Amino acid sequence: MEHKIEVMFPEEQIVAKIKELGAKISEEYAGKEVTLVCILKGASFFTCELAKRITVPVKLEFMQVSSYGNETESSGVVKIIQDLDEPIRGKNVIVCEDIIDSGRTMHYLLDVLRHRGPESVKLCTLLDKPDRRVVDVKIDYNGFVIPDKFIVGYGLDYAQRYRNLPYIGEVILPE
Ligand code: IMP
Ligand code: MG
Repeated sequence: MEHKIEVMFPEEQIVAKIKELGAKISEEYAGKEVTLVCILKGASFFTCELAKRITVPVKLEFMQVSSYGNETESSGVVKIIQDLDEPIRGKNVIVCEDIIDSGRTMHYLLDVLRHRGPESVKLCTLLDKPDRRVVDVKIDYNGFVIPDKFIVGYGLDYAQRYRNLPYIGEVILPE
């Protein structure tokens, strides 16, 4: 049966929030270069919009890790599917993620990146679902805190669908 999608954050609100995050990052990294590490595929829309709003020099890097597959539950097993193609030694890294849910993916990944000798590593996420947290993760820049709902759009998927929605919406499953 088909499900409905109820708008939670319209596009304008998302873009306004990302502008705020970009301004904050630009201020805090004044005089430095930042390396944005986009976590594919979910954070792709967010990272591109954020990169446009940062006024200090930006390098864009991409990484893909497995977390959900087509389920709505994290397995706890994190696998690097696609790694960075540049070393991050001495770099100011900002990991860009779509959403922090259980925290397992970022807990693991931030640890991996810190062991590669960067100058700094920070975490920037568009969304935070704190009620679902299993592992502690420090979020340095956060867009929106949301309740325990399954959402899609602006990069986020449900079984690989809906990433291209320009807004963020809640998936309403049929009764
Ligand atoms: P974590 O390891 O449980 O924090 O999982 C984070 C990942 O789960 C994110 O990068 C998303 O890909 C996925 N995820 C968590 N919640 C949602 C959601 O509500 N909609 C779509 N994907 C989600
Ligand atoms: Mg996903």
